[in-house]
Amino acid sequence: MKSLLLIALILALGSCHGAEFAEPMSAQDRSLSSVAADGLESLKVVLRNGAPNHGIPVLAPAKLAKKSVKFSTGELSFDGEVEDLILEGLDAYEVLIMNVDVFRSRVTSTLKWSSLNVTTQYKADVGSGYRVQREGGAFFALEDLVIEARINYSLGVISKKLGVKDVLVYPSVGNVNSQIENLSKYRILNRKMNEVIEEFVTLTINDNTDFVADWVNEFATPICNEMIGDRTLSDIIGIITGGGN
Ligand SMILES: *[C@@H]1O[C@H](CO)[C@@H](O)[C@H](O)[C@H]1NC(C)=O
Ligand SMILES: *[C@@H]1O[C@H](CO)[C@@H](O)[C@H](O)[C@H]1NC(C)=O
Ligand SMILES: *[C@@H]1O[C@H](CO)[C@@H](O)[C@H](O)[C@H]1NC(C)=O
Repeated sequence: MKSLLLIALILALGSCHGAEFAEPMSAQDRSLSSVAADGLESLKVVLRNGAPNHGIPVLAPAKLAKKSVKFSTGELSFDGEVEDLILEGLDAYEVLIMNVDVFRSRVTSTLKWSSLNVTTQYKADVGSGYRVQREGGAFFALEDLVIEARINYSLGVISKKLGVKDVLVYPSVGNVNSQIENLSKYRILNRKMNEVIEEFVTLTINDNTDFVADWVNEFATPICNEMIGDRTLSDIIGIITGGGN
């Protein structure tokens, strides 16, 4: 979670400074915040198309061949792996607030995803009292996910090197939709188990626990690392402002 947001905002901030160098006149006309918001809009194109020349894959949708997954709600535990995972909607965010405060070197931003969802196959030891091997298809969605972030940054006067000092992230979710098939062979029990998961995920996100940061980090960090690689900030600005070419 943190890393994903961090990167989105570094990119936005990066493109805002890039635009400042490239077009001093128009950058004066527009506020830095609106330039940064434009950077977040341009990022969507890169997420959708990738940047093949730079080895960045398409991330909306993002595909993952195999991943181990482990969690426990207390009532229900799940320990296994997912295969052929497709994450949809990374690019489907709305920028509600984007504010760059250059005097305080602070960015505040609020982004909203109406649906961020995963479709996958799973195979796992599922426990609710006793543990059994289950497998099947799964769909899982976070709906009306809002992420509010505050970032303190530093920008080298001469080096123009951007550093992030401090990040605060507040997520909240309107609705969680879990449709995992075959957790139990009994339909009613299967629905009940999905409800346990929905409630658990809703509470953990809205209570802003470490669980969310850990969970999303595990998926987001490799995706982000793949995107950033060993590029410099100006490489990234070039990619974003070039629309991925
Ligand atoms: C999954 O997310 C995408 C992007 O937000 C959305 O277009 C699609 O309708 C969602 N799928 C479902 C079944 O909700
Ligand atoms: C449900 O899980 C059981 C146990 O792993 C498996 O034998 C069965 O084929 C699965 N059913 C479906 C529809 O995937
Ligand atoms: C940023 O700095 C301000 C004041 O300097 C501080 O109150 C705040 O906790 C810091 N961190 C974030 C993420 O805003």
